[in-house]
Amino acid sequence: MALPGQLQEAVERELTELSAGGLRRDAEALTRHYRAGGVSGPAVTLPAYLTVRLPATYAAVDAVMQELRRRCPRLSPASMLDAGAGPGTASWAAAGNWPDLAAVTFLDIDQRFLSLAQSLARSGPPALAKARCVTGSIDTWPGAEKADLVVAAYALAELPLVRMAEAARNLWAAAGQALIVVEPGTPQGFSRIRAVRVALLAEGAVPAAPCTHASACPMVGDDWCHFSVRLQRSRSHMQAKSARLPFEDEKYSYLAVLRDGEVAGGARVIAPPFERKPGITFRLCTAEGLDTRHVARRDATAYKACRKTGWGDHFPADWENKE
Ligand SMILES: C[S@@+](CC[C@H](N)C(=O)[O-])C[C@H]1O[C@@H](n2cnc3c(N)ncnc32)[C@H](O)[C@@H]1O
Repeated sequence: MALPGQLQEAVERELTELSAGGLRRDAEALTRHYRAGGVSGPAVTLPAYLTVRLPATYAAVDAVMQELRRRCPRLSPASMLDAGAGPGTASWAAAGNWPDLAAVTFLDIDQRFLSLAQSLARSGPPALAKARCVTGSIDTWPGAEKADLVVAAYALAELPLVRMAEAARNLWAAAGQALIVVEPGTPQGFSRIRAVRVALLAEGAVPAAPCTHASACPMVGDDWCHFSVRLQRSRSHMQAKSARLPFEDEKYSYLAVLRDGEVAGGARVIAPPFERKPGITFRLCTAEGLDTRHVARRDATAYKACRKTGWGDHFPADWENKE
């Protein structure tokens, strides 16, 4: 996947003044900083964020929103709170997925990011161009101020662990229809998602994705639930990373919950399917726990139903044949 044209052009306008060498140094420093567990702040330069992180966080959030749309085709948020908005990445993805989106609020503690979000949004669809900017913290956002959709993308990681569950409850209180939380697809990112899941299910939230059930999360030990999305690298992205490949894979963990509705049931494919001559083996998460199922090639009906099912997909519910 690639950034939408309007966003790519807006990003490139922000980057025009920079030398390739300076951008490469800043991008390397930013990657080191985030990998070491650093949070956004003065150490993060905005051009480097736009070049090497925004395309990846956009791709992950867009993949999550597409999955939520498949799961809830009638969901059509008119308003959105982008919590920890950064450059407004999640709002761009939401505007692409839900064209009826009319009102967007960017919430961030960092005024630099808010100004950048506003500057990019001027090139976006009307909901973005007139977005409201609020300087403040996720964990003090008044729950009474509702939005149909609340998204915290790569933002809860920046809160101390002890404040995270409270922050998630706060965002849930503000979510009229749905809340999406996305984190890096690392063991640490997933452990935050799991803690958020426990806190939100206790508040009556209904898991929409990736969980197909509301039972206790069966991932234990050093296993972690994560997915992957492939994104195209722009020329500046390749230069900044001294990259040879024209794409990269972003790993992410996430949780989407609904205010009303029912769990999907069935299973989620939680690892790349393993295909060999005799058939395909899937690793699945189900309400009964983690499971492995093999679909034999000779079982033509089942094989046809499952052949195109990939990592992150809902496992075809109509296929019952367990081997
Ligand atoms: C890694 S960036 C993610 C930005 C954007 N959501 C994305 O996906 O590209 C994290 C953002 O969260 C903001 N942030 C960190 N702590 C916050 C808090 N307590 N309240 C609001 N925003 C916060 C940072 O300023 C930064 O803009």
